[in-house]
Amino acid sequence: MGRDVIVACDFSSKEEVLAFLDLFQEKKPYVKIGMELFYAEGPSIVRQIKERGHRIFLDLKLHDIPNTVKSAMRVLRDLDVDMINCHAAGTTAMLKAALEGLQKEDGSRPLLIAVTQLTSTDQGSMERDLLIEKPIDEVVMHYAKVSRDAGLDGVVCSPLEAKRVHECCGTKFLTVTPGVRFAENEKGDQKRVMTPAQAREIGSDYIVVGRPITRAEDPVAAYERALKEFVG
Ligand code: C5P
Repeated sequence: MGRDVIVACDFSSKEEVLAFLDLFQEKKPYVKIGMELFYAEGPSIVRQIKERGHRIFLDLKLHDIPNTVKSAMRVLRDLDVDMINCHAAGTTAMLKAALEGLQKEDGSRPLLIAVTQLTSTDQGSMERDLLIEKPIDEVVMHYAKVSRDAGLDGVVCSPLEAKRVHECCGTKFLTVTPGVRFAENEKGDQKRVMTPAQAREIGSDYIVVGRPITRAEDPVAAYERALKEFVG
């Protein structure tokens, strides 16, 4: 499994995202499609981007009862994406149902990655609203282990957590890490950030990079720089 840069295409319309992707003529980036674009444009946007030769991480973070998640994954399976995710908080039965729903007749399936605790959740909100009193790092590692034991392929986590996830769950368990900035970038709303080169050092398998590429003056050059720093 090679390292790669996934570009978070957080656009709200088909026109915007396709105009952005038109910039890339040679190497086609791995693209992350999130809720905003998917809910605005529906499944056809996934097909169109796929037809242009991009690999796709469909970031819809499913979380519901096992039967519903299995049926939803069965529908999404036919979009033939490369990576998809769900919340580890759905617990083992839901995680296994998600895997079952994704399984194709030939036994293959996209990579299934778990969301542990959202990075917008902190110790205070977890204790207050979720009544979880353990240290948040311990909770994140526990969710990662539950996901691994259910058969998932990895977790979304901050680059700062990637090393520990590999220590807890093995180096083959994938870490997909947002929160990446070039050395001279503003952090924006991301609090805990790393450069692509630091994420590589720490052993992230995939970095998810949005605004440092989508809002760069030259997005292709920014993407190439991220690739060079992260993949080499
Ligand atoms: O623009 P930026 O590089 O911050 O984009 C990061 C992407 O990763 C966004 O699509 C964001 O929703 C996603 N993400 C994140 N933190 C998480 C999970 C996903 O920033 N914990």
